[in-house]
Amino acid sequence: MEKPVEQVTRSDSELSKETCEAKLGKRVKGTLVLRVDATIPEIAKIQVAASVIQEGGTVAFPTETVYGLGADALNAKAVKKLFEAKRRPADNPIIVHVAGKEYVYQLARDVPKVAERLIALFWPGPLTLVLKRSKQVPDITVVGLDTIAIRMPRNKVALALLNKSGTPIAAPSANLAGKPSPTTAQHVIEDLAGRIDVVLDAGPTEIGVESTVINMTSDPPEILRPGGTSCEKLMEVLGRVKVHPLVRAEKRISLAQAVSPGMKHKHYAPEAEMIVVEGTLDKVIKKVQQLAETHATEGKKIGILATDESIFNYQADVVRSLGSRQNSSMLAKNLFELLRQFDKEKVDVIIAEGISLVGLGLAVMNRLRKASGFNIIRV
Ligand code: TXA
Ligand code: MG
Repeated sequence: MEKPVEQVTRSDSELSKETCEAKLGKRVKGTLVLRVDATIPEIAKIQVAASVIQEGGTVAFPTETVYGLGADALNAKAVKKLFEAKRRPADNPIIVHVAGKEYVYQLARDVPKVAERLIALFWPGPLTLVLKRSKQVPDITVVGLDTIAIRMPRNKVALALLNKSGTPIAAPSANLAGKPSPTTAQHVIEDLAGRIDVVLDAGPTEIGVESTVINMTSDPPEILRPGGTSCEKLMEVLGRVKVHPLVRAEKRISLAQAVSPGMKHKHYAPEAEMIVVEGTLDKVIKKVQQLAETHATEGKKIGILATDESIFNYQADVVRSLGSRQNSSMLAKNLFELLRQFDKEKVDVIIAEGISLVGLGLAVMNRLRKASGFNIIRV
């Protein structure tokens, strides 16, 4: 059993760093993996990770959305390591995570009243605000932009790490560029073991899709990426809100329309060909099964991404359910794990049912449509 923090004795704290780490966790290809209690994070383990951040290293940690790969946001050399570890394109800026509202005024300037309202209502939580950037932030963190994306996560391990580190933490999702975002520490290890210093493993994340990104430098504010905070909730507070065309991701957009640098980058795309079928459920079911049969006669291995309401209708090599259509939060939570499973099963074609755009459904459909390369059939 792992030692609770309270029992770490004086002699423990006098042990060498290596011995101490060995007692706390295990190494995978050189990366230190520390299992952490999700509700009461062990301080000794958080301290090890915080020291790595303070010394300019990289730490993967859970947030309520997905696992992030963190480095000191104010240390340019440390942030450079994030880009290298993830193989992230050098023009895609990173979200800076903070332990409290007060950090916003250190990192950003001209914070509008309406941003303060969103912060008061939605932080800590899955909402990232794009604001004008202050001089304190190194260029590399925001890839030279005049803006900065900031969020305060609500995951206890993330908050403990932020508090102990005493610095804002720049953290993109902890996957290799082009892979689905990680919702478990195992996903992080698959992608990044040997490329980063530490992984804090506190089990699967709560929400499963990334935070909503909203640009507060435009009037009205504009949603750049749908995510864990639904558009409906934001609309209730803001009254007016623009929704960028790529949020619906109904078709490919031109580079000129890409407000968020992340928009123009290749997103997760499975090895397999992927088709999304959208429409009323009975028509969708018919079309999905018909496509599955057609492709199977060509000798292809078929994967179907179904829902609880439809899964019994299908026969194919790999059939999985995202969850019930009645519960968009559950669909979001399962999405990335299932996409990774299809890749592991090495299917040739993934046929996915479209779901409703309500609630977190919009974030799910945004990821599915992009993953398919906009290969969408409407029935
Ligand atoms: O839930 C999340 O947001 C997770 C966890 C770890 O917090 N993080 C995450 O980071 O998804 P990443 O790097 O995978 O996505 C950040 C998105 C990208 O689309 C990026 O282009 C956008 O935020 N972004 C960052 N800074 C921006 C800025 N100044 N202006 C516009 N978009 C920005
Ligand atoms: Mg990402």
